[in-house]
Amino acid sequence: MSDGGTSRASVFERGGARKTAEGLSYLTGFGNEHASEAVPGALPEGRNSPQRAPLGLYAEQLSGTAFTEPRAHNRRSWLYRIRPSAAHPAFTRTDNGAIRTAPFAEAVPDPNRLRWNPLPQPPAGTDFLAGLWTLGGNGDATQRTGMAVHLYHANTSMERVFSDADGELLIVPERGGLLLHTEFGRLHVEPGHVALIPRGVRFRVELLDESARGYVCENYGAPFRLPDLGPIGANGLANPRDFRAPVAVYEDVEGPVEVVNKFCGNLWTATYDHSPLDVVAWHGNHVPYTYDLRRFNVIGTISYDHPDPSVFTVLTSPSDTPGLAGVDFVVFAPRWLVGEDTFRPPYFHRNVMSEYMGLIEGAYDAKAEGFVPGGGSLHNMMSAHGPDRETFDRASAAELKPQKLDDGLAFMFETRWPVTLTPQAAGADHLQQRYDDVWQGLERHFRG
Ligand SMILES: [Fe+2]
Repeated sequence: MSDGGTSRASVFERGGARKTAEGLSYLTGFGNEHASEAVPGALPEGRNSPQRAPLGLYAEQLSGTAFTEPRAHNRRSWLYRIRPSAAHPAFTRTDNGAIRTAPFAEAVPDPNRLRWNPLPQPPAGTDFLAGLWTLGGNGDATQRTGMAVHLYHANTSMERVFSDADGELLIVPERGGLLLHTEFGRLHVEPGHVALIPRGVRFRVELLDESARGYVCENYGAPFRLPDLGPIGANGLANPRDFRAPVAVYEDVEGPVEVVNKFCGNLWTATYDHSPLDVVAWHGNHVPYTYDLRRFNVIGTISYDHPDPSVFTVLTSPSDTPGLAGVDFVVFAPRWLVGEDTFRPPYFHRNVMSEYMGLIEGAYDAKAEGFVPGGGSLHNMMSAHGPDRETFDRASAAELKPQKLDDGLAFMFETRWPVTLTPQAAGADHLQQRYDDVWQGLERHFRG
């Protein structure tokens, strides 16, 4: 269906967004070769690029991986659109706002355990793009390695369209629903769900509530995929059928539309004479998607100890070393704890990987206080961390009957390289000053 009329101003239609969001239908399955057409007959049959595409549309391929990458990992989609993406004026530089990009070299890498409160209120009129604030990251966007941790806090819907050539965007809302208008159609995402916008896909974010707050992992590396399951078997963790892709919806909008392109760390802008969200039909597997984190099938012990938190991996971006992720997205979803003679919260440890953790709601079982929804913590490479004193004391003395952990939803971006902060994160007013204190007072119990 069409999402607009012709020959009207650039201002996108407003109103009824929540009703629209809740009424959306989806295609299901992770990595599927999906196909969708908003107008019957818009998809060509039997070929991708006929001499004349149906309905006077332009055929265009969008490559998410190199043409020659292995078939199992190849990502591309074919788009059938009112105008080809090539029909645009030159981009010019625009202000990067609070967005920063790897390599992060402005601050000295910090070995300390760090924790932040939520982002402060933004000024009125801040959209998702203007509300993006980079905490730090690693790698090099121009080498397509590494990742960035961003947070966002917005209070108005985007009137402009954005695309990120530097990486895919994993959006983790913590407060406020979002209606994502993408080239492929529309996605509804609420706190407790995540959305992924693939590299290069144009989209805009409409707010469904007064404000919206959350986290974004910008993954410069290989596209996120589902982890292998090994001895777990053919099912479990995030099940492929629970991922949702949009159905084709197009905007037939004539009039000025600002399009912002993030390229090698900078924002560039151009004013199109039409909406680039004008894809009438598409097929392929380089598509945006959403996932409900509460559908995660949590695997844990039914005897003693507990598995390493890698067992909570939702999505992984592999590197060139088997088993070593550029970045993993991990969720600590509601689950039962039944381990016998086991210290049940996350253990003390030092990790060669670096861990950024955020909290979507409730509490996290390793921290009694101070780790709040919308905030976050960074435990960089080899930094010592684990339960705080209060949690240690309580868990060491707890009666080990079966216990349901169902009051929190935390997540982690776990990455192979240390996360270097941006100066704005290192010097933020909302950086907590005495985080180390949570491990003070862990008493000596040794009776040697
Ligand atoms: Fe950890």
